[in-house]
Amino acid sequence: MNQKCLVELKKIAVAFQHAGQIHRALNTIDLSIYDGEWIGIVGKNGSGKSTLASVLTGICPTSKGFMEYHDASVQMVFQNPEAQIVGETIMEEICFGMENQSIDPMEMRERAETVLQQVGLTEALDQPIASLSGGQKQLLNIASCLALRASVLVFDEATAMLDPLSRQRVMDIAVKLHRQGQTIVWITQWMEELSGVDRVVALEEGNILFNGSRSEFFYDIASGSAKSPCEAMGFTLPYSVQVAKHLLSMGYELNGFPVSAAQLAEAVTMR
Ligand SMILES: Nc1ncnc2c1ncn2[C@@H]1O[C@H](COP(=O)(O)OP(=O)(O)O)[C@@H](O)[C@H]1O
Ligand SMILES: [Mg+2]
Repeated sequence: MNQKCLVELKKIAVAFQHAGQIHRALNTIDLSIYDGEWIGIVGKNGSGKSTLASVLTGICPTSKGFMEYHDASVQMVFQNPEAQIVGETIMEEICFGMENQSIDPMEMRERAETVLQQVGLTEALDQPIASLSGGQKQLLNIASCLALRASVLVFDEATAMLDPLSRQRVMDIAVKLHRQGQTIVWITQWMEELSGVDRVVALEEGNILFNGSRSEFFYDIASGSAKSPCEAMGFTLPYSVQVAKHLLSMGYELNGFPVSAAQLAEAVTMR
C-alpha cells in the first residue's frame, strides 16, 4: 500500500431531525482513505455505517467538519441490488452513469465490455436486467461503478441480501479488484467478511471506537482486558479466530493471525 490519501474526513458530524429532535448519526469522525487499501467498516444496525458511506460518496449533507477528495471519485454498491438499477438491459444500465458524464459512445462500449469481463458477467449486453439474479445484479452494479473509474469503491452491506453462493461471488470479485489495486471500503456486519481487509474501522453510535489492523481487531488483548476489540464491541469472533485462539491457548504455534478457514489452515504449521 502506498500512502497517497484519496479521501480525508476531518471532524465530520451528521445530524438528522427526527420528530422535532436532533439526532446525531455521526460524531466527530476523522478518517483518511489511502490509495489501494481495503477498509472494513463494522458496526451494529443504526451505528452510522450507511451515513458514513453516503458522506464518502458526497450525497449526505454534513453539519460539522470538512472533507477533501484528492483527485478521487467515490462510487457505492448498495445493500439492495435493485436500489440503484435504472436501465432495462445490461448495456443500458452500465451506460447510464457514463452518459451522465458525456463519455464518447465508442469509449462507452469499450469500457462496458472491459468492466463486465472484470466482474465475470458473461451475459449478453442486450440481456434484460429482469432476468438476472440478485447476485448478478450486484456484479452489474459493481461494473457500473468501475465504468465510472471509481477510485474508491464502497460496498454498503452489498452481500446482505444474497444467497451464500452469490455472496461468495461478490466477495471474490472484491478480493480480485483489491489485488489489482482498487481501493475498497467494505461495510458489513459479518465478521467473516473481514478476512481480506487491511484495516478495520468499527462504529458505535456514530463514533469510531476502533481504527486499526485486522489482527489487532480480532486478536489484540488490550492491557487489563480479556477481550479483543471485536469482542469488546459485542461481536462474535469468526469461528476460525475462535479455533486459532483455542489452539494458541493450548500452546500451539500459529503463523500469522487467521480469520478465514483457509488462513487458519495455512497458519497451522506442518510437522
Ligand atoms: N435520512 C435519515 N433521517 C433521519 N434519521 C436517519 C436518516 N438516515 C439515518 N438516520 C439515523 O441515523 C442513525 C444511523 O443510521 P445508519 O447510518 O443507517 O446506520 P447503519 O447503516 O449502521 O445501520 C440511525 O439512528 C438512523 O435512524
Ligand atoms: Mg446501513
